[in-house]
Amino acid sequence: MKNILLLTFLLTLSFSQKTPIPFTIIDTPENARCLDGSKPGIYYRPGEHKRNTLIYLEGVGNCAGPTVDDILENCYQRSFTLIGSSKYRPSFFNESEIEGIFREDDKTFGRWNLLIIPTCEGATYAGDASVQYKNTTLHFRAQRMLVFIFNYMIKNYQLNLNHNVILSGSSAGALGAYQYANYLQKILPSTDVRIVPDSGFFLDSPEPFQQIVQVFGNFIKNDHYKTIFPECKYQTIGSDFYKCILPKYSWEFIQTDAFIIGSLYDNWALQYIYQIPCYNHFDQCDPETLQFILSYGETYKMLLSNILSKKPNWGSWLISCGFHDLVQTNWYSNRNFTIPSSFKYTGQESLDQWINYRFLKSKQRIDQVPYPNNKNCAYQYK
Ligand SMILES: *[C@@H]1O[C@H](CO)[C@@H](O)[C@H](O)[C@H]1NC(C)=O
Ligand SMILES: *[C@@H]1O[C@H](CO)[C@@H](O)[C@H](O)[C@H]1NC(C)=O
Ligand SMILES: *[C@@H]1O[C@H](CO)[C@@H](O)[C@H](O)[C@H]1NC(C)=O
Repeated sequence: MKNILLLTFLLTLSFSQKTPIPFTIIDTPENARCLDGSKPGIYYRPGEHKRNTLIYLEGVGNCAGPTVDDILENCYQRSFTLIGSSKYRPSFFNESEIEGIFREDDKTFGRWNLLIIPTCEGATYAGDASVQYKNTTLHFRAQRMLVFIFNYMIKNYQLNLNHNVILSGSSAGALGAYQYANYLQKILPSTDVRIVPDSGFFLDSPEPFQQIVQVFGNFIKNDHYKTIFPECKYQTIGSDFYKCILPKYSWEFIQTDAFIIGSLYDNWALQYIYQIPCYNHFDQCDPETLQFILSYGETYKMLLSNILSKKPNWGSWLISCGFHDLVQTNWYSNRNFTIPSSFKYTGQESLDQWINYRFLKSKQRIDQVPYPNNKNCAYQYK
């Protein structure tokens, strides 16, 4: 009895214990700082596999608003929070958010080095400008911050000697992964660099894009971008700059392999880009709205199928259930979220196959049935 209790205790201990991931400030110059001007930081946990590193770019979206002033005000407010300033970052990564690909028992990444790069800019990792607003300067400097952080990793952790580096990120972090794929491969010439963008393949519609063009285009458009993603031909075409930020346009310039994870009905996009009130309960949508959502999913599927057919080494896991941001949560291995529902490949299993068995033919999984026919997850919303 005593032994069983002891065993239970030890098992509980080994499964619940999480290695704390400390926050380290990186000493960067003035033009490589967070929104409020503070120095950026990283969370880093070394792994047993010293030559494999998972880099994760945190999401949390753009500063947003209908006008330039609203967006700047939103950024200003953000500069007093942990997504705009390192001052408010806890000195250890929130333990209850060490889930999904961050778990130490994750089959694929559990024993890799883990670098989590917290967002503190609010401009989809594309900025290189400073803007005067109210009584302060807002820094949109993600480009130079990332360059510094990558160099710091080379100098202090020999990132350049890695065999594998996976650059991942969710939502705005996924937009970062698409933009920095080529750059990271360039500075790590002897490393196999690949990207795993999650929930960042946004479609466009005129209205939110007008906003991106008019607002972000004006103050994040910059010459330094040429050092980051010179292959993207849109950066030289005036107001088309935003197309380098969006994989819908930039995919053809990306030279590394990519594994695209997402929902065919991304409910963040439905909520914020398309202003759909039933974004989180499709079963409560009126018939017209549901029809819009279904045709959105169909458009998305056709676009992605077309791109993936031209990128045979790319992988995908795109499911007919609504969610946003998967890999950093346990939903990524949830057995209700599988493609196709009868064969049951979770996002975790599909990604693991793509990472470890590159010869595998069926790397591209796109749910073939529309909502709500992937029954196990149709009525679950994240
Ligand atoms: C840690 O994460 C959990 C789950 O997301 C959240 O509820 C909690 O507020 C976070 N704690 C801190 C101190 O941020
Ligand atoms: C600007 O004003 C805000 C609100 O009054 C204040 O909290 C902040 O410290 C000021 N910043 C500077 C740089 O003076
Ligand atoms: C899967 O869905 C069923 C039915 O909604 C639910 O009872 C179960 O808890 C879910 N399983 C997981 C692992 O979330």
